[in-house]
Amino acid sequence: MIFYDLAHERYSVRKFSDRPVEEEKLGRVLEAGRVAPTAVNFQPHRILVVRGQGMEKMKKATPYTFGAPLMVVIGYDENESWKSLQGLDAGIVDSTVVTTQLMYAAWEEGLGSTFVGHFDEETLRKEFDMPDFFHPVAMLPLGYAAEDCRPHPKLHYSRKPLEETVFYDTLKDLKPAEGRRKK
Ligand SMILES: Cc1cc2nc3c(=O)[nH]c(=O)nc-3n(C[C@H](O)[C@H](O)[C@H](O)COP(=O)(O)O)c2cc1C
Repeated sequence: MIFYDLAHERYSVRKFSDRPVEEEKLGRVLEAGRVAPTAVNFQPHRILVVRGQGMEKMKKATPYTFGAPLMVVIGYDENESWKSLQGLDAGIVDSTVVTTQLMYAAWEEGLGSTFVGHFDEETLRKEFDMPDFFHPVAMLPLGYAAEDCRPHPKLHYSRKPLEETVFYDTLKDLKPAEGRRKK
């Protein structure tokens, strides 16, 4: 699929069918994540694939499994991630880039997913034996969308016009967003 079509067509799938995901498809999706860009190409990302009985454990860590047959958890090894001069651990960014690449590759394969950032880290760590140096950042429930699955009516369709988010040459006219700024 042409990338621009993919970018417009993709939506968060929050209802999955029981149809299992073929190994080859999962392999190609994971391969797309493998070649994702990371800071200094350090590739600190690590991916946990959860299937079958593991999905019951996953349900303890997040309410957002949506009946998917499998889920991938994307995180990073803090010993390998690049640290910016501003003190940012690029592992978080790297994991997000990888997650996005997986998400689009999944759509290309006819599979749906949703970027899930809401999970109980402590439970996740315990259920899946995560070592301290590994930091989970995101999850993707992955699978075939249920026949009656549709984009979320509010969340998917409203996108700001470019004029609200893109500025040329200077940010002097940028005003703080109303309502969501932390005091
Ligand atoms: C960082 C991040 C965290 C998100 N966390 C969740 C989540 O925990 N649960 C969920 O249902 N969707 C989650 N989403 C999906 C967004 O709600 C969704 O992408 C957005 O509303 C736009 O809708 P669309 O993906 O259908 O176009 C998350 C997306 C991002 C980028």
